[in-house]
Amino acid sequence: MEVALTVRDLDFADLPDLDWSGGPEHLNAVAAALQDSLTGGVAMLGVALPNGRLIAKGGVDLRKHAGRGELWMLAVHEAWQSLGVGTLLIGALEDRVRQHGLGVARLGVEHDNPRAAALYRRLGYRAVGSELDGWPVAGGRTYITVCTILERSL
Ligand SMILES: CC(C)(COP(=O)(O)OP(=O)(O)OC[C@H]1O[C@@H](n2cnc3c(N)ncnc32)[C@H](O)[C@@H]1OP(=O)(O)O)[C@@H](O)C(=O)NCCC(=O)NCCS
Repeated sequence: MEVALTVRDLDFADLPDLDWSGGPEHLNAVAAALQDSLTGGVAMLGVALPNGRLIAKGGVDLRKHAGRGELWMLAVHEAWQSLGVGTLLIGALEDRVRQHGLGVARLGVEHDNPRAAALYRRLGYRAVGSELDGWPVAGGRTYITVCTILERSL
């Protein structure tokens, strides 16, 4: 059986269908990114099944780094991982970087996420450095981590 997947821009109405991707703090970050997408500096994309349900989401920030588009918040629903969905989503986000006239895609991967890092390397991304990153988590705390920064010329 083949399943036809659609990649489309996300909307605020999609937030309830993304609850599998993280807790309330993460969904707040997605909502903030959707707000930024209204002015064109960010694109938020989702991968949908034929029945409309979302099984992956990710964003690209087109203004954060000169000449580069930064992919972030990549997530594929656990039940749909290792089937090529992430590769499809990354390709669509890279298209947005090109369409914006930018020549480099960039992303950060946590130091302890070797599987995602291997996928990005397979897609042509190469390490250019590392940096501290952090985001809000439950209990009003902030999670801090070290990310390897990868880039790919498009
Ligand atoms: C990392 C992530 C976004 C990748 O998405 P994905 O859909 O699993 O990625 P893909 O399927 O395109 O490629 C990954 C794997 O599938 C394999 N694959 C790709 N296309 C395939 C296909 N058509 N059939 C079978 N396997 C395939 C790849 O070889 C790769 O192998 P691996 O499982 O050994 O790593 C996803 O796994 C995820 O959400 N993980 C949890 C959150 C996370 O780590 N996010 C990234 C933060 S930087």
